[in-house]
Amino acid sequence: MRVCMIGTGYVGLVTGACLAEQGNHVWCVDIDEDKISRLNAGVVPIYEPGLEDIIKRNVSQGRLKFTTDTKEAVKNSFFVFIAVGTPPDEKGNADLKYVMQAAQNIGACMEGYKIIAIKSTVPVGTTHKIKTIITEELTKRGRTDIDFDVAFCPEFLKEGSAVDDFLSPDRIYWHEYNRKAAGKDPLFDLDTIFEGWSEIYMKAFSKSRLAIIHIPMDLDHETCKKKLLEILEDTIR
Ligand SMILES: NC(=O)c1ccc[n+]([C@@H]2O[C@H](COP(=O)([O-])OP(=O)(O)OC[C@H]3O[C@@H](n4cnc5c(N)ncnc54)[C@H](O)[C@@H]3O)[C@@H](O)[C@H]2O)c1
Repeated sequence: MRVCMIGTGYVGLVTGACLAEQGNHVWCVDIDEDKISRLNAGVVPIYEPGLEDIIKRNVSQGRLKFTTDTKEAVKNSFFVFIAVGTPPDEKGNADLKYVMQAAQNIGACMEGYKIIAIKSTVPVGTTHKIKTIITEELTKRGRTDIDFDVAFCPEFLKEGSAVDDFLSPDRIYWHEYNRKAAGKDPLFDLDTIFEGWSEIYMKAFSKSRLAIIHIPMDLDHETCKKKLLEILEDTIR
């Protein structure tokens, strides 16, 4: 797979390097020119057991690249991960300005279908904001013919054991809203349904190594909520 990681901080660097280790071709992008120059010179800005060797090996084998050129990295990738920071704002909420800038940058340069996956820690509903921003950018460019999907894939790694956490995860969470499957006027909206159920589903995922939830798109909102609860209760048991 060809992957672009927007944001080469703790999460982006570890995830990008480990995805390359698994055989993917990864472009790690950052707006911090100094960080990218140092990475290109072989200087790893964080200490994580095993990370430096993984980076060296994958750079030398041509599977891992560091750049400030978002356009080039997006153009060469099928999956585009957003792993930028979400520091607390003055009210203590996650400040989404970097996430929204990243979404704008993607919409401003994508030339074909992409799956955009959010790794940053964001509140419920952010996938919709990202969809809106990318659509606005494509509209400005007169490129509404370009299709894309947005997924939410939050990070659970712990600093100090990040490489192990990535290579042997106790859970992987992937929530994808498929525009083609949902149609132009979806009957329900998964983000809204998940909003009220976050506590239940996190308990479910922490108690099981894997839970796969597939909900047919033709269910109405109430039936969908009921079905989701049944699946999650089964998973917790
Ligand atoms: N660090 C952790 O242990 C951890 C664990 C789980 C989740 N998270 C979440 O993951 C996200 C990333 O965290 P982090 O610790 O890697 O952050 P970080 O601050 O270490 O790195 C973020 C990087 O994004 C870059 N950036 C900002 N805007 C950009 C843009 N438009 N294009 C390209 N690069 C851009 C910054 O220059 C920075 O290098 C946050 O939402 C955080 O809450 C972090």
